[in-house]
Amino acid sequence: MELSKLEAMLEGRESQPGQLIEVLQDMQATFHYLPEEGLRTVAERLGVPPIEVFRVANFYKAFTLVPRGRHLLTVCMGTACHVRGALRLLDTVEGQLNVSPGETTADRAFTLERVNCLGCCAIGPVVVLDDVYYDHMTPGKLRRLVTVAYKQDKEEGDA
Ligand code: FES
Repeated sequence: MELSKLEAMLEGRESQPGQLIEVLQDMQATFHYLPEEGLRTVAERLGVPPIEVFRVANFYKAFTLVPRGRHLLTVCMGTACHVRGALRLLDTVEGQLNVSPGETTADRAFTLERVNCLGCCAIGPVVVLDDVYYDHMTPGKLRRLVTVAYKQDKEEGDA
């Protein structure tokens, strides 16, 4: 964790407990997780008891205490998606990224997750990459999606 980035996030927010969730959102977006030492700093600077900061960090699904990849890829494995080939999608991306659901690639580019339904069964199988939904997914389209994300990272100098 770059301390200077956290300092920038806290600027103008000192002793403002009401800023807690916004600061945690900024941390998650910047570091892709909430580092423990960062949470302690946030508690101290906002004037929020550390136990409350950790409670909030654990409560919301959007926050994670372990490092995530720059990209979050979610494969729906619900019944409707499953019968339309979701297992092949999962196999494809596990092979391409060399991770299992819940894991992050060694280069911290991708975190792979699986869910049991995204609530849009009619357009399945569905995957979500960085909050964007992709419908009627096929193994080939998914492989290309991952490849394009890697390529964009390279162009932006993140990889
Ligand atoms: S089962 Fe995949 S969206 Fe419902």
